[in-house]
Amino acid sequence: MGKNILILKGSPREKGNSSVLADRLAAGAKAGGAKVESIYLHGLDIRACDACDLCEQGNGCVINDDMQDLYPKVEAADVIVLASPVYWFTFSAQMKLFIDRCYAYQANDWREMQGKKYALILTYGDSDLYTSGGINAISTFETMCRFLNAEIAGMVYGTMSDVGDAEKQPELIEQAYKLGQKLGVA
Ligand SMILES: Cc1cc2nc3c(=O)[nH]c(=O)nc-3n(C[C@H](O)[C@H](O)[C@H](O)COP(=O)(O)O)c2cc1C
Repeated sequence: MGKNILILKGSPREKGNSSVLADRLAAGAKAGGAKVESIYLHGLDIRACDACDLCEQGNGCVINDDMQDLYPKVEAADVIVLASPVYWFTFSAQMKLFIDRCYAYQANDWREMQGKKYALILTYGDSDLYTSGGINAISTFETMCRFLNAEIAGMVYGTMSDVGDAEKQPELIEQAYKLGQKLGVA
């Protein structure tokens, strides 16, 4: 049966590079029968975790914003894909806000985020993972998955700057599509 895939897009550029790769991943997954939902985080009202720790009581996060619509989607997903540009040597703030708010699952030891697979799409302007700082986002992602005891299903990343650059990289486009195909039946 097709999987339920949730893609979180962390760029403000709706047609930007990480978004193009995420859409190719989505196309590959859909071709394999998966149900895919993509969320444009920049368009949502997601406030920063304020460390009130009320989530410790087990009733979720008390901040009443658009994250409330995302929690059920996170819980229902078989696969979660983080698609982000590198901003200042790590994830974009939009993506980090989303990640931080997953702290709300602490009462149940993050079980709601476990038992699923995770994938990463990362784009950056500089020439490699180190000079771009992309390595920091990858390290965060890997540490997060290790903490959650969750499987990393794949990563697609590369150098590109302007809107339209991703389309000029057929190998990465293909890689994203193939990862989607794999995730769709995973
Ligand atoms: C605010 C801002 C910060 C950025 N910081 C970095 C950076 O630290 N390292 C890097 O290699 N590229 C950086 N870039 C370039 C983007 O990562 C690059 O253009 C990427 O392809 C954008 O992805 P998108 O089209 O999905 O938005 C930055 C761009 C912006 C707008």
